[in-house]
Amino acid sequence: MKDAFQTLSSYHQRTKHHPRKFANSLGFLDWDNQPNPFRSYLDSEVVELKFLRKKCGLHYEQMLRREDIPLQPFHLESISQFLELSLALSAWKSVQNTSWSLRINPSSGNLHPTEAHLFLPGKTLGSDQALLAHYNPLKHCLEIRKRFTQPPESFGSFSSENGILVCLTSIYWRESWKYGERAFRYCNHDLGHALACLSLSASLLGWKVQLLSEYTHSQMEELFRFNQVDWIEGEKEEPEVLLSITPLGKEHQFNTIDRRLMAAVSKDQQRERVNRLSNEYYPWEIIEEVSLATQKTQFEKSKPTPVNQPFGFSFKQQSAQKILFQRRSAVSYDGTTYMEKKIFFSILDRTLPRSDYPPFDLNLGPTRTHLLLFVHRVHELEPGLYFFLRNPEDLDQVRELSHQELEWSLVPNDTNLPLYRLLPANLKMEAAMISCQQDIAGMSCFSLGMITRFRAELESSPWIYRHLFWETGMVGQILYLEAESHGFRGTGIGCFFDDLVHQVLGLNDDHYQSLYHFTIGGPVEDTRLTTLDAYHHLNQTLSK
Ligand SMILES: Cc1cc2nc3c(=O)[nH]c(=O)nc-3n(C[C@H](O)[C@H](O)[C@H](O)COP(=O)(O)O)c2cc1C
Repeated sequence: MKDAFQTLSSYHQRTKHHPRKFANSLGFLDWDNQPNPFRSYLDSEVVELKFLRKKCGLHYEQMLRREDIPLQPFHLESISQFLELSLALSAWKSVQNTSWSLRINPSSGNLHPTEAHLFLPGKTLGSDQALLAHYNPLKHCLEIRKRFTQPPESFGSFSSENGILVCLTSIYWRESWKYGERAFRYCNHDLGHALACLSLSASLLGWKVQLLSEYTHSQMEELFRFNQVDWIEGEKEEPEVLLSITPLGKEHQFNTIDRRLMAAVSKDQQRERVNRLSNEYYPWEIIEEVSLATQKTQFEKSKPTPVNQPFGFSFKQQSAQKILFQRRSAVSYDGTTYMEKKIFFSILDRTLPRSDYPPFDLNLGPTRTHLLLFVHRVHELEPGLYFFLRNPEDLDQVRELSHQELEWSLVPNDTNLPLYRLLPANLKMEAAMISCQQDIAGMSCFSLGMITRFRAELESSPWIYRHLFWETGMVGQILYLEAESHGFRGTGIGCFFDDLVHQVLGLNDDHYQSLYHFTIGGPVEDTRLTTLDAYHHLNQTLSK
């Protein structure tokens, strides 16, 4: 039997795209079986959430710096805002007779495998009972899966003053329906985007999101009662991560497993039913295997890599809410727009993992992701290949493993950005080529591959394989928002030829791998599409 590392390693190898061979998928889109992007819990009681009637009034910079943000109590209004600015719908697009919804959190292929569940202590929504709820973004409502009748003392430190718990899950089938075996990667990218969305939205309420690394996979199953749900084949939700959402400064409340909470939950055996997502399911065994191999089985002591330097740049104030709502993916770029060097530097600066700033302070462990940049159109910066080092510990090793003729010259800048020039060159064609020949990687101002530490920790802690994709998704989310805040537009790129990227840098083994790509430039809008309000179907017009 293969061990967990071998399983994930061979999954990773096998799901690489190559110019003459893409990772296995059905090869066509089985429209009759497209999974429903909206899950619902059938026997649940619905609690409608509030909509933001007026702007929350805070600025984008404030959100990133957690500056002067009043603490909100945990109640219906604040939880509604928390979800509306993180995982809710942001718009509908329509052309001819077809329309589809978009969300605050992006998703590969807009397929949305990520679901969110909330554990709310008594008094949060009025009643004294603690509640377990599923968030339904289509209706912007909570589906109450369970009301706990035990007295508040049974829940240990779990109280509405201390915060709430959120569990994010993935439904792999939503992505594997289209992308086949590579879908496990995309689900985890999407989860990373969702993590960053939650962390930023929480910041606007004076809250902090922390990943609770003590809980294992089976404890998450138990706490959120996923083992009590009658799943339809292939449509099970995989628990990915447990988060505490606490007032800033109280984040240590939930650091250790709360045995009383676990005991209070595991008492009853009531079954739950969920909606069917598609008529038929096509199993991708390799996804089941890698999922099993990367489930968290042990307590993990995360060691963050703190960067304490303040942001190096500041810009005019813009509404945080507006930037969160307007985030979209560019479908093409004009190929002419240039970016100011200061903006380029600032975008990179914002991806640095600062210890007190969201989203990289959510306790995901050491920083493992760097940026290999293909600079095309940035004023006063020679086009070429650059490397942005997000964790200085890796410099020597990455240099050692790379082509020896690369320059590694530090780009002069006033804010100590660890940006190295590797090679001056026009790489527009190469960037598009390695991104599965997608023009968006060459027509932009710059595109990049996220080069991530790989083999070392995965041998002993295989579940970190998922964390790697989460970290890249979080970096992607910051890039999306930064692009919007400067009048540009970004797009996540999950389709790239893995080993061609490695060849650009000279990587020959699996100490580092490229896990996700991104591109930012001047977008060309698709004028055939009409945009509708996010909740027009509920007769709600939002304040943006
Ligand atoms: C993980 C991930 C991978 C993606 N890969 C690609 C890609 O390879 N090519 C592309 O054009 N768009 C890609 N996208 C963009 C999605 O298609 C887009 O997010 C989705 O259609 C939703 O649209 P929105 O971002 O405007 O809300 C990706 C997005 C994510 C989050």
